[in-house]
Amino acid sequence: MSNRIVNRKAPKKGADFYETPRDAILKLLENESFDGGISEPACGKGAISRVMIEKGYRVNSSDLFSYGYGKPGVDFLVSKKKVDNLITNPPFNLALEFTKQATSLTMRKVALLMRIQFLEGKERGEFFKHTPPRESMSSAKESLVTKRRLT
Ligand SMILES: C[S@@+](CC[C@H](N)C(=O)[O-])C[C@H]1O[C@@H](n2cnc3c(N)ncnc32)[C@H](O)[C@@H]1O
Repeated sequence: MSNRIVNRKAPKKGADFYETPRDAILKLLENESFDGGISEPACGKGAISRVMIEKGYRVNSSDLFSYGYGKPGVDFLVSKKKVDNLITNPPFNLALEFTKQATSLTMRKVALLMRIQFLEGKERGEFFKHTPPRESMSSAKESLVTKRRLT
């Protein structure tokens, strides 16, 4: 991995950075528990990871860009590393690619915190025909989609 990538700061436009509200993560944890480790592959400043660690989970955090939290320079879309569980709030402009990658690499549960509009759309509709969400939930501030890997 080159330093150029590791030290790359998130561009003002392009990283699609948005910090997940704490309430949304707590809402997820009211409804779901996770056995084993957690991967947060687009951790940003650690909003999700910090809450999960506080609740006693073992979390591996990385991001393509550097925000001073987790391991920077890791492009999740080319990762081949299998994980127990994955929780993230993906960049919305890459949400489907992240979802496909997450479901292929995760052995237990995938939880994606994102806008509810993700459930709409033709291309995503095709994907959901084969890999439907087990459950979706929404909080006042954030919409959540959780799904179990289907194999
Ligand atoms: C919507 S933000 C969410 C940040 C954090 N998960 C949170 O909930 O606060 C999306 C994150 O995805 C990261 N990202 C964008 N493309 C990525 C990629 N290919 N691999 C890993 N992270 C990526 C961005 O740098 C940004 O931190």
